[in-house]
Amino acid sequence: THCISSAASDVYKRQLQAFPSRIESMLFSGQNPPPDIHDQLSSVSRQDREILHGHKAVAIWLTGLSGSGKSTIANALQAHLHAAGQRTYVLDGDNIRSRLNRDLGFSEKDRAENIRRVSEVARLFVDAGTIVIAAFISPFRSERDTARALFDKGDFLEVFVDVPLSVAERRDPKGLYRKARRGELRQFTGIDSPYEPPVAAELTLRTDQLSVAACVSRLQALLTAPGTPVQGMAPLMTCPLPLAKALQ
Ligand code: ADX
Repeated sequence: THCISSAASDVYKRQLQAFPSRIESMLFSGQNPPPDIHDQLSSVSRQDREILHGHKAVAIWLTGLSGSGKSTIANALQAHLHAAGQRTYVLDGDNIRSRLNRDLGFSEKDRAENIRRVSEVARLFVDAGTIVIAAFISPFRSERDTARALFDKGDFLEVFVDVPLSVAERRDPKGLYRKARRGELRQFTGIDSPYEPPVAAELTLRTDQLSVAACVSRLQALLTAPGTPVQGMAPLMTCPLPLAKALQ
């Protein structure tokens, strides 16, 4: 019973009681859908999913230079949350640029479109009750602000994965900085394409000064500490909700 507050349990029971009539009104309202596109009444809300999952949904947006450690931190955080029974998903270049955004390159226009699509996908994941971690260079402040504007306050946490260019360049895990310096790769962020650091990120992680574990614990503190934009997450984040308990 301490897995979920009694208030949340009451909300869940009320929703279950209301469920048949919500479905009925959807099925038998006698209204034909208009020919144009519009929002569909969903039989299951984001809040329903959050209660089922036992935690709040949120988008964690990691921005920083190539080689700053975004994907490493995203994966370490995901492993940590998953082990604690929380629903997570990582969006990064590997699963987005190779498929959904395979038509996009690295011009300013294409990067903006990359971030526009990714932020819309992240928004859907939040609606699905998931903790979505997006790891993209996302070099332009205006695109990150546009992404943030898609979310309710507190649902979008911008995290600056900060490292001096010299350190990223020394790491050069994919050998891309070397290529860019030789002029074999154009429009490379930090070399001949700009990176605009965040001015009001919820968290900054200096990955040349902090271990991966330390970065993860700072992110966890951000997710659970009272007084942060995600205040209220803590009681539901403690452990997954056993459905049977909620129905007692
Ligand atoms: S973003 O600028 O549009 O946000 P994104 O994070 O999706 O970039 O992709 C960055 C990754 O693409 C880099 O980590 C690197 O592996 C690869 N890449 C290939 N060309 C470039 C380039 N010109 N600039 C930056 N990254 C590049």
